[in-house]
Amino acid sequence: MPRKSKMLAEEFFNDAINTYVEHATSDESALLKNLRIETRTQTNMINMLSGPVEGRLLQLLVSLSKAKNCLEVGTFTGYSALNIAASLPAEGKLYTLEFNPEYAKIAQKFFNLSPDGHKIELLLGKAEDSIRNLDVQFDFAFIDADKQNYPLYYDLILPKLRSGGLIIVDNALWGGEVVAPVEKQAHAIHALNQKAKNDPHVETVMLTVRDGIFIIRKK
Ligand SMILES: C[S@@+](CC[C@H](N)C(=O)[O-])C[C@H]1O[C@@H](n2cnc3c(N)ncnc32)[C@H](O)[C@@H]1O
Repeated sequence: MPRKSKMLAEEFFNDAINTYVEHATSDESALLKNLRIETRTQTNMINMLSGPVEGRLLQLLVSLSKAKNCLEVGTFTGYSALNIAASLPAEGKLYTLEFNPEYAKIAQKFFNLSPDGHKIELLLGKAEDSIRNLDVQFDFAFIDADKQNYPLYYDLILPKLRSGGLIIVDNALWGGEVVAPVEKQAHAIHALNQKAKNDPHVETVMLTVRDGIFIIRKK
């Protein structure tokens, strides 16, 4: 969700380091670059977009885990969805969930322009309802929507995840606020971080990439 006044955890690093990290990471496609430009001009929420480094990490994780059926909670304008889809095989499928029709319209436009777009199905509506209605066993899930519902999304997704499957959680550090949570979003993210860490059915690792990326693998 939008966080105009807060820092991303990556802002703890200086610009030179962030630029160095981006330059060391494989370049994004021209389409993804255009999507970032359009997101900047059409919305005032560019901070919600995951970006080239996280995008590449998602591509790598999808590829390494040989995922076929994927779920994304929080499409926004489709940047992370296109990164996930880029690593899916031809028969792979990504269900991506969004409740804002304006963001969904931009996302669908870019899906239609992408050679990977046919692998993506955008479901418009409340994410909680869409997850409940999907009768699919997932190999990979990316959680990046309303933070208060992070623990709920984990509870809904884990039973639908195959053994060996991954859940990737964005904004796991919430600008560093999870260390001493005050606001409800920070409390909810911290609750999920603790829930997964203490869940004997999964193994976890948290990365200080961007705003914190939590990788959860179902045993
Ligand atoms: C941080 S953005 C997602 C960014 C995207 N994953 C990317 O990397 O470009 C979160 C998105 O979740 C959507 N969202 C928030 N709460 C939602 C809900 N309950 N159901 C569906 N979508 C929701 C917002 O409208 C927003 O577009």
